[in-house]
Amino acid sequence: MKRKILITGGAGFIGSHVVRLFVNKYPEYNIVNLDKLTYAGNLANLKDIEDKSNYTFVKADIADFDCIRRIISEYQIDGIIHLAAESHVDRSIKDPFTFARTNVMGTLSLLQAAKEYWESLPEKYTGKLFYHISTDEVYGALELTHPKGVPAPFTTKASSKDDMAYGTEFFLETTKYNPHSPYSASKASSDHFVRAYHDTYGMPSIVTNCSNNYGPYQFPEKLIPLFINNIRHGKPLPVYGKGENVRDWLFVEDHARAIDLIFHRGEIAETYNIGGFNEWKNIDIIKVVINTVDRLLGNSPGHSYGLITYVADRLGHDMRYAIDSRKLQSELGWEPSLQFEEGIEKTVRWYLDNQDWLDNVTSGEYRQYYEGMYK
Ligand code: NAD
Ligand code: DAU
Repeated sequence: MKRKILITGGAGFIGSHVVRLFVNKYPEYNIVNLDKLTYAGNLANLKDIEDKSNYTFVKADIADFDCIRRIISEYQIDGIIHLAAESHVDRSIKDPFTFARTNVMGTLSLLQAAKEYWESLPEKYTGKLFYHISTDEVYGALELTHPKGVPAPFTTKASSKDDMAYGTEFFLETTKYNPHSPYSASKASSDHFVRAYHDTYGMPSIVTNCSNNYGPYQFPEKLIPLFINNIRHGKPLPVYGKGENVRDWLFVEDHARAIDLIFHRGEIAETYNIGGFNEWKNIDIIKVVINTVDRLLGNSPGHSYGLITYVADRLGHDMRYAIDSRKLQSELGWEPSLQFEEGIEKTVRWYLDNQDWLDNVTSGEYRQYYEGMYK
């Protein structure tokens, strides 16, 4: 079937991987990438596919309802994969209003525009899908009950070498929402609007909640690319608090593959958690990143450890995230494709091979923000 799919936020980190996958894998689909091109959106992320005949880019703001309404009907959109968002927790602490505007009002505007267009068609919602990409942060924070780690209860290809979990609880699809940061509160609110449109109007929708992604094209304000960039410049590596917070890391292409699978085979009105059972304490992952960068740059082992700088903790810093993705694994057969060590190696190599990309995105507005924040 020839689909006409709107992907929002396709010039950002995860969105660009999703756009690339869909444009290359489905030449028979029309893929419309809608992005406002904020500091985090970069068309250079899509250079390799920008000339493909099944790809169109539209610069627009998801919170501009009239514009979104026009675009959905002009391109006769029948499926939406919604990734556009303000995505950085530290920015949300400084500027929560922008997060409410884009993440809440923007999602609402997309939902309402899709509802009006789809309800105007003879077949209405048949064959349509509003797929909303969300985060594990909406579930709140888990306790670090096993600071030294315990054997992970489930094993997957993405597990770390030691296969450790730092607590016995995991986020399930049924876990009650309990967001703490302005970012996660705005994402939780948008998730509720998506489910409300299903329950009230019958909008065919799916929500997925994913753990921390890493990989090429991530904006270097997030932990891994920020630290790679700082190591290459010999700049301090700001570790929040004691570096003991735990995150569950997934290679971005594995997230994109999960999105493809769920878009085509997921059940309407369902929620799927996406994650690779791959928990790391920040300080441990930072050491892996340092070791990898130093090795690839030809530095002596431990060369950049002196850059580690403990700084004031993030306000309201969530202690531990850990996703239980067994529903997705058992119902749709998804599993991460990469061992974590392989993913980190690929990621560090990509940033070192694409230093122009890093230099470009760390100039201008971003630099002003970053320097203002950590001085
Ligand atoms: P990102 O910040 O790299 O990219 C966001 C994109 O959205 C950018 O291209 C930006 O220009 C665009 N955008 C922002 N505001 C917009 C607006 N008002 N109108 C149109 N476009 C706008 O984000 P990311 O890390 O790729 O995250 C993508 C989605 O996945 C987000 O919804 C995020 O909440 C979710 N998510 C991210 C992670 C992660 O680890 N990065 C994990 C789970 C879920
Ligand atoms: O869990 C999914 C979420 O992962 C996504 O929804 C968010 O969009 C994404 O940004 C990410 O959120 P985090 O806050 O976990 O990611 P970040 O890279 O900002 O931070 C990872 C951890 O590292 C976190 O515990 C804070 C810490 N940190 C981060 C930065 C930027 C530091 O210690 N120092 C830093 O400079």
